[in-house]
Amino acid sequence: MKNISSYTTVREIYEAIAGNNNEMDGKLVVIDGWIRTNRNMGNIGFLSFNDGTCFKCAQLVYDNDTINFEQAIKAKLGQAVTITGVVSLTPGQKQPYEIKLKEFVLVGDVDDTYPLQKKKTGFEFLRTIPHIRPRANTFNALYRVRSVLSFAIHEFFQGEGFVYVQTPILTSNDCEGAGQAFKVCTEDKKPETDYFGKPVSLTVSGQLHAEPFALTFRDVYTFGPTFRAEKSSTTRHASEFWMVEPEIAFATIYDDIDLMEDFIKNIVKYVLVNCKDEMQFFNDRIEPGLLDKLNRMVTESYEIVSYDEAIEILTEAVKKGHKFEYNEIKWGMDLQSEHERYIVEKVFNCPVFLINFPKDIKAFYMKQNDDGRTVAGVDLLVPGVGEICGGSEREADLDKLKQRIKELGMDEKTYEWYLDTRRFGGCPHAGFGLGLDRLLMFITGITNIRDVLLYPRTYKEILY
Ligand code: 4AD
Ligand code: MG
Repeated sequence: MKNISSYTTVREIYEAIAGNNNEMDGKLVVIDGWIRTNRNMGNIGFLSFNDGTCFKCAQLVYDNDTINFEQAIKAKLGQAVTITGVVSLTPGQKQPYEIKLKEFVLVGDVDDTYPLQKKKTGFEFLRTIPHIRPRANTFNALYRVRSVLSFAIHEFFQGEGFVYVQTPILTSNDCEGAGQAFKVCTEDKKPETDYFGKPVSLTVSGQLHAEPFALTFRDVYTFGPTFRAEKSSTTRHASEFWMVEPEIAFATIYDDIDLMEDFIKNIVKYVLVNCKDEMQFFNDRIEPGLLDKLNRMVTESYEIVSYDEAIEILTEAVKKGHKFEYNEIKWGMDLQSEHERYIVEKVFNCPVFLINFPKDIKAFYMKQNDDGRTVAGVDLLVPGVGEICGGSEREADLDKLKQRIKELGMDEKTYEWYLDTRRFGGCPHAGFGLGLDRLLMFITGITNIRDVLLYPRTYKEILY
């Protein structure tokens, strides 16, 4: 034995061995973790052991000499244990090392109702136990990628000099004006006499509150939970989801598009580099060809397609006999996800920036184009998922913005503070919102938003 015993982690051992550090061979280690599988062969047995520090498990070998051999023989999936053992390198084998157990100590037993068993368990069933499913491989990989992706977002913006602004969750404005905000109240009272003395809701977007900061710091971003009371149960809509929203001053829609592409490429690359095992798993088990798709996403350039062109493409497709569920294509319509996916998957087969939408289907703050009928909005569409980002250049002209607020029948008084951004040193500015959960679906090949969220909240579905 080369070293005195020391607490370590499964990840540290993998990393040391990957770095050709032979010091690990023969080292006595103590590790806490959980049992995944037990293969007992009589006098000898093998445990697959995960300590949460990395996706990969360690193989533990026990025999007659292991202290608490009797317990090791009966080790069960899910048990919490502390093990002491000697690392032994196993070059040429499936795992680069195993740990020969000196001692097996049971810390927390599992009873017979433990819902995860070795046989494959369907996603639908796992959705009923969100507090247990992170222990299943797919979810274990998902939630680490989610964490790394979130860090990559901060790292990208901080590296580019953006200021992180934490916009509020409670708000008395409706940014998107779509009436999809959850009302907040303390009692069954009229808003005027309730807690805040006015109608208040959960934010649908931090954009309005971020804009004044962009007009101070130039480049800012907000990143947090967002709430929408959309009464639809699709695989892409959640009632509570995470959105990151950069806002940049002295910028046009084309600067916004450049930022979006640069940003997406950087954060996807970060995940590919920093979550190799997890991404290999998704490629092997969830979406064949996933890594190729993502590598193309970070190297190839994206298409820019105007809404007018999109309508032409779809009209042409219908003429040629393509059947959409919603088949009545006409200018002014809001594109359905089947239309977006047709454009991305069948026509361009790469991410597409869809720009310049009819003003009547977009929010009040978007810059009105000179044609009088469109606004400088942009959606980023990707294969499989559809829209992952939505943004725009903002209307910088105070009079035009006021006019639009009036046209839409919005309460101008509520937005007076926001209009100040156009009164006091306003400038062309732009921004976008990326749906973290949708990007995570694209990155992992998972097809239901309920699975990339830790505790999903969707229409008529909330467990605890
Ligand atoms: O396109 P949206 O509605 O844009 C905004 O909210 C702007 N205020 C953003 C901005 O310019 N700062 O939402 C942005 C993104 C969408 O592209 C989508 O990825 C995600 O947020 N998103 C949802 N994700 C999950 N569930 C929902 N119900 C979502 N609604 C929007
Ligand atoms: Mg949108």
